[in-house]
Amino acid sequence: MASLKLFPNVSVAVSSSNSLPRRFEKGRVSACLNVDLQAVDSLKVEKLNASNEVMEAEKRVLVGTYARAPVVLSSGQGCKLYDPEGREYLDCSSGIAVNALGHGDPDWVRAVTEQANVLTHVSNIYYSVPQVELAKRLVACSFADRVFFSNSGTEANEAAIKFARKFQRFLHPDDKQPATEFVSFTNCFHGRTIGALALTSKVHYRSPFEPVMPGVTFLEYGNIQAAKELIQSGKIAAVFVEPLQGEGGIYSATKEFLQSLRTACDDAGSLLVFDEVQCGLGRTGYLWAHEAYGVFPDMMTLAKPLAGGLPIGAVLVTERVASAINFGDHGSTFAGGPLVCNAAITVFDKIANPSFLASVSKKGKYFKELLVQKLGGNAHVKEIRGLGLIIGIDLDVSASPLVDACRNAGLLILTAGKGNVVRLVPPLIISEQELERAAEVIRQCFRVLDNNNSN
Ligand SMILES: Cc1ncc(COP(=O)(O)O)c(C=O)c1O
Repeated sequence: MASLKLFPNVSVAVSSSNSLPRRFEKGRVSACLNVDLQAVDSLKVEKLNASNEVMEAEKRVLVGTYARAPVVLSSGQGCKLYDPEGREYLDCSSGIAVNALGHGDPDWVRAVTEQANVLTHVSNIYYSVPQVELAKRLVACSFADRVFFSNSGTEANEAAIKFARKFQRFLHPDDKQPATEFVSFTNCFHGRTIGALALTSKVHYRSPFEPVMPGVTFLEYGNIQAAKELIQSGKIAAVFVEPLQGEGGIYSATKEFLQSLRTACDDAGSLLVFDEVQCGLGRTGYLWAHEAYGVFPDMMTLAKPLAGGLPIGAVLVTERVASAINFGDHGSTFAGGPLVCNAAITVFDKIANPSFLASVSKKGKYFKELLVQKLGGNAHVKEIRGLGLIIGIDLDVSASPLVDACRNAGLLILTAGKGNVVRLVPPLIISEQELERAAEVIRQCFRVLDNNNSN
């Protein structure tokens, strides 16, 4: 047996066997693959306080881009997460709307391990079977005719920006000034790379990095007249919109708004892009959030839940858009690799099942009802909104103290908007009992808001 150094002053025995990673078992620590857990048992884990060591080390060796919650998570099963000391958390954050199948779904684990045993990466110089199989599924179940894979949500939007500009050039080859500008909306979030960042509304995300991509106009989300007027100008390559805004505070578009964007884009020759990175793929109880409105885009970007926790992104496009794209116009070394695509096939097959989607709708309604029952009368609650299992509790104060109190009570939830919205995005497989527990923990923790000043 080899020895593995987990933390500076802790080393544990490592099994040389080929066994699969072990799941958390009570009283045990499962921090790494193939760690001999019995050896860890005897180390009186609580005294070592492994979590503190990780948090201290993180401060020294990682670039400080994240204001992390003081929790180290080392294993998970279903909707439960565990820290190295064995504390259990109910997960209503899903790694920011990613872990749709929860943690350690057996079919997902099988898809990943079987594919890892066969082939993990080949680059896009060659064909690979899982990439084509996943694309076939996405095309068969959507408005789209073709797919481009990326590695994240921001990269999917970056690709959509390039495709929109290329489309306009392709369509108007003799035009010296084809449409190159974009429309985006208040409270939107489209990513952190320089193009997607330019489309993202929060000024303090953009301002330290200016100049970002020029030519983006932010309009009020839902303002039909303003959107029509600007799109009519003929300068707009594409309009980017989330059918349901996640980071921005769980705001749903109206059918009328999306329909008028569709009509204005059609009239002016602009493309309509739906960013479903957070709200897509079953989160709303619909496979695609835009199905709730019956309005269809020219491009749709996806990411977060698609591979159940492995990094992936995708742009789904119509044939009309795809026809403007040539070899070499865009690409990625890693994107659409066999491992991630095989995982995504498993995720997609489960989520696209109508009975799975119906269960998300049912549980979403139930969760919202519970929250309204338990919190509706509280003076801090302005609104409880959302669709399916993406729910926001809009508060008249900062949500952070509530998020902290819930975490201390064993429930992981998120904020959104200007920090005053509680965002609940549990794994889509969560049970009604777990939703009841989550709602009750939130109710009990609500009193911390009375001790805090309003925004
Ligand atoms: C709607 C939306 N678009 C894009 C992104 C960026 O995705 P990623 O963090 O994978 O780059 C996010 C991330 O939260 C998002 O919610």
